[in-house]
Amino acid sequence: MESLDQAVREMRLLVQFGTPPGVAEDFVGTLERLIKTTEDLSQIAMVFGVQGNERLESLPTEKKVALYRVLQEALSNVVRHSKAAEAVVRVEADRSKARLVVRDNGVGFDTAQSIQGGHFGLQGFKARAEAEGGACDIQSKPGAGTTIAFEIPYE
Ligand SMILES: Nc1ncnc2c1ncn2[C@@H]1O[C@H](COP(=O)(O)OP(=O)(O)OP(=O)(O)O)[C@@H](O)[C@H]1O
Ligand SMILES: [Mg+2]
Repeated sequence: MESLDQAVREMRLLVQFGTPPGVAEDFVGTLERLIKTTEDLSQIAMVFGVQGNERLESLPTEKKVALYRVLQEALSNVVRHSKAAEAVVRVEADRSKARLVVRDNGVGFDTAQSIQGGHFGLQGFKARAEAEGGACDIQSKPGAGTTIAFEIPYE
């Protein structure tokens, strides 16, 4: 468990600065590799669905990075906190916006408590959504799994 924790930490440091490798040129492929790596490290089954591939690749790099980082933090939360057997990731884009949904079937938590002080992952989702003119919705209940929905407009 210690090496997994360390791997997650290193992954986070890597993505904290600049554009992560692959994100600008092969966005969906890079998301897929992140999910696969996380699955291999964690033994949590991951299902990945994509809609609007071409539209997603045409996102400005800054927004690709925002989506990548939200996915990365959401997955590290799944690994570290959820005790889930499975996670489902969906990325989709239409004309006006891109959307990321990460759902797990794990232990869940009380959102009213956990979004406040001392934790930076969930607060980061909100801050990033605000910075991009988008929105982030976090649905969770103890015992009932967690769903993160993150949305950003193109303009
Ligand atoms: N997928 C999840 N399943 C269960 N609990 C979760 C999940 N995601 C978040 N949590 C709960 O919400 C808390 C806050 O999450 P958040 O990502 O903000 O902080 P953190 O992961 O504890 O710390 P960090 O600042 O390193 O991200 C977690 O400590 C955990 O209790
Ligand atoms: Mg976290």
